[in-house]
Parts: sequence; C-alpha cells; structure tokens
Amino acid sequence: SRLWRGVIEEYRDRLPVTAATPVVTLREGGTPLVPAPWLSDQTSCEVYLKVEGVNPTGSFKDRGMTVAISKAAEEGAEAVVCASTGNTSASAAAYAVRAGMRPVVLLPDGKISGPKLAQAVVHGGVIASVQGNFDDCLRLARELSETYPVALVNSVNPYRLAGQKTAAFEVVDDLGDAPDLHVLPVGNAGNISAYWLGYSEYTAYATDNPGPAKRRPRMWGFQAAGAAPFVHGGPVSAPETVASAIRIGNPASWDLAIAARDDSGGLIDAVTDEQILAAQQELSGREGLFVEPASAAGVAGLLHYSRTGRLDAGQRIVVTVTGHGLKDVDTASAYYGEIRPYVVPAEAGAAAKALGLA
Ligand code: F0G
Repeated sequence: SRLWRGVIEEYRDRLPVTAATPVVTLREGGTPLVPAPWLSDQTSCEVYLKVEGVNPTGSFKDRGMTVAISKAAEEGAEAVVCASTGNTSASAAAYAVRAGMRPVVLLPDGKISGPKLAQAVVHGGVIASVQGNFDDCLRLARELSETYPVALVNSVNPYRLAGQKTAAFEVVDDLGDAPDLHVLPVGNAGNISAYWLGYSEYTAYATDNPGPAKRRPRMWGFQAAGAAPFVHGGPVSAPETVASAIRIGNPASWDLAIAARDDSGGLIDAVTDEQILAAQQELSGREGLFVEPASAAGVAGLLHYSRTGRLDAGQRIVVTVTGHGLKDVDTASAYYGEIRPYVVPAEAGAAAKALGLA
C-alpha cells in the first residue's frame, strides 16, 4: 500500500502550485467514501458518505488550507487572518504554525463550540472574540488584510476553493465516475462552489486538463432554516441556528454557488434545526458515524426530500459530511438529554443483571 501524500502532491497537476511552492501539508484528504446502508434503504438509492471529519483538524477545511497556506508561504507571508465559525480557524491555526506563521482568527463572540475554540488555542492562534456575527468577522478580516501585512485565508481566497475541489476528484476516483447527485451543507458557500469546480474540471470534456469523469452530478445544497439566504434570495441580517458552523447570513461565494446550483440542475433549500439534529442522531445511531450538527444538514435535506416524494429512486448519491461529531459535543449531548448510565458494581453477575444481559 502507498502512503497518501496530501491533496497537493496527489493532485499537483490540477492545482495552482509550482516547484517553487513550499508544500505545507498534514496529509489531508484521501478521506473515506463510506457506503450508507440505512440511508440507502430509506431513500431506495445507493448512498455514500464522504467523511471529511477524518481530516487532520477534523473538517474539510484542511483541503483548502494546505493550498492557501502553501501559497501564503511562497509569497512570504508572516501572518494569516481568517473569520470563522470555528473550523476554518482550527485549520488555519494548525497549518499556519506548521509554516511558522502567526494565525490571527476572528471569531463571533460566544458563538463557536468549545472544542473548536480549544483547537485555535492549542495551535497558538491569536484569538479575537468579535462583537458581531460571522458576517461581521469576515468583513473585518477583509479590511485587515487590505491594509495590514496579513494574508486572508477565508474561502474568498481562490486557493482555498482550489484545494477543496480535490474532494470531488476523490469521489470520481473512488466511484469511477461522478454520482447522479451530490448533497452537502451550505454556509459561506465555498464548498458547494469548490465541488462544482472540481466535478466540472474532472470530466473527459474539460478543456485544458481532461479527467476521468464522463458527467457531472446535480448539486443539492442545504442551509439551516434560520440562516438560509439562498432560499430567501438575499442576505439574512440575524442568522440563527443550532448548527453554529453554518450560522451565516451573507455568504461570500454567492455567485459561484448560484452557478453550481443552476448549471447542475440542482437546488439549494433549507432544513429545520430539528431535522438537522434528528439526522445527526440517525447518522450516529444507524450508520455509526458521529458528525457535527452542520454536517448533518445534507443528510437531513436528503431524507426530507425522500420522505416528501421528491427524490427519484435508484440514484447513486454522495453526501458530504463536513466535520467530526467531537467538534461540538455539547449540542449533541443536549439533544439526548441527561445521561443516565446504569450504575453497576464491578462484579460480572450483578452487572449482567443490571444491564439486562442475564
Ligand atoms: N460544515 C461545516 C462543519 C463547516 O464548518 C462549514 C463552514 C460548512 C459546513 C459550510 O461550508 O461555508 O463552504 O458553505 N464553516 C466555516 C468556518 C464558515 O468558519 O469554519 P461553506
């Protein structure tokens, strides 16, 4: 077996790097495409989950960050800045320190999960708790990078999307072609844009560098109902959802995401917080995969469309689950309520009786 080298070395000829680019990698990518038997049964389709929570910092953000930080290093940056709901900042901090740069992270005050904040802390991030929401943080990050010597590594940086499109390459490499349908959560809208770029570039018909896919999938994106600017047709000023990763009202990649939706014949719709939490629980309890709330939005949307008769049977479907469940344990635990374990003596007979085994 061959060691996975990270997305830059695996897909170098399709990425904006040269021999002069210092590769900053944690060997991200190469994530498993896991068959989902319960979801397949529920939907009468062939469903796979692209499990991005196994990336080095626990989310898909590492794919884009390896490219963005490598390019920043090539350009001689000494500090990077990003706005984040928690995953981008964790990834930026990890890759920046590896490259010897200072990571400055702008986080909406009190609105990111404890584990994500801890990641920024342990990686030595310079942490700003901004009195505002994610959209305010992103505006601030842009302004700082325009005026001060600090490189912006949010997904408005095109190197981020370039790295993230490798997830689509991996799906095609694993399945032998694109699926019929690709489903994923939408927040700042970078990822749906990146997948569409990736699928588009990876077809046999791509202009400069043709790839192994014969076709492209339809793209279905799902937002949280309280933070669904694409569904409303414009920015939402006070976004609110239990899925803190996608609590975003003014997505940066607006035009690219609309193009992904329309050019693919797809859709962007919303799911409720209750549907998100139920899908998170079903993924944990049925498929054996613990993902964070935002990551369950795609699954919630797929189940909703299936249960309301709007999903054709027999399709091959890939759903990206974007981040690990351990990213937000408080929300998951709260959904299950108080934990009441069986308190048992350390003796097999009595324990077996209490646990219903005897
Ligand atoms: N899922 C997770 C776990 C995320 O962290 C994000 C975005 C998304 C989905 C949505 O992806 O923004 O490309 O549409 N998180 C960003 C962050 C905003 O700061 O970590 P998107």
